Amino acid sequence: MISFITRLAREAGRICLQRQTKLNSGDLTFKSPKDLVTVTDKEVENFLVKEILSTWPDHGILAEETGETKGTGPFRWIIDPIDGTTSFVHNQPFYAVSIGLEINRDPVLGVVYAPALDQMFVAELGKGAFLNGKPIRVSETLNISHAVMATGFACLRSGLKENNLPHFNRIAPQLRDIRRYGSAALDLCYTAQGTLDGYWEMNLNAYDICAGVVILKEAGGIVTDFKGGTNYPRNGIAAANPVLHSQLIHCLNPSSFISGVEP
Ligand code: IPD
Ligand code: CA
Ligand code: CA
Repeated sequence: MISFITRLAREAGRICLQRQTKLNSGDLTFKSPKDLVTVTDKEVENFLVKEILSTWPDHGILAEETGETKGTGPFRWIIDPIDGTTSFVHNQPFYAVSIGLEINRDPVLGVVYAPALDQMFVAELGKGAFLNGKPIRVSETLNISHAVMATGFACLRSGLKENNLPHFNRIAPQLRDIRRYGSAALDLCYTAQGTLDGYWEMNLNAYDICAGVVILKEAGGIVTDFKGGTNYPRNGIAAANPVLHSQLIHCLNPSSFISGVEP
């Protein structure tokens, strides 16, 4: 199963690379003024759904652009055909094909492929996490003041009043540095790889994070909602190595945050 899905992700990545340099304004539609979808998002999703259902007709699918296809068994694929469409449209490399698999709603497999960077992140429950076939582990950074973390601003794109800026303004000054790659799936994978020490974001959906969460957990990372619970991404997502995760949760909960005091 994993080799089949990895091949599919690589083929989907080839489609992205072929289309990316030829995109024009007629290829874009808007879910909201800042939320782009391209014809390639839809083409890649149709390709993935068709290949999966022709191989496993009884499987279910939850995909970003076409929604839910009910299955008859315990298997459900969670697909984001292009996570980081804004990066894709602006000819930047930080976007990925993200394919997760749930069995009875429990995530058990994740494949995240960044074609412009030729980075294939793969993980199966209990079998470890890999980048291009090499094992990956979360970082060993112990203190948030030595950490580089990522975040995102979906909430701003959707014009939500309750947004990430207060968290950003509180946390960024405590970090060594901040990154904003533009792909939640890659943010989770870079945290799994240890090149990021942690990541948080609000207002994501299952298809943004399913595959990346499997990869991060298999790499030794901790993933919770903003309060340290399991209701992510609905109540935010906070992901980091095991030592930094509690410091990140502390920073995300202002009631426990005393300005100027290291967590
Ligand atoms: C987006 C990316 C981005 C995150 C947004 C997501 P999309 O996915 O993951 O990093 O900040 O919230 O919607 O829309 O490009 O698939
Ligand atoms: Ca996404
Ligand atoms: Ca997407």
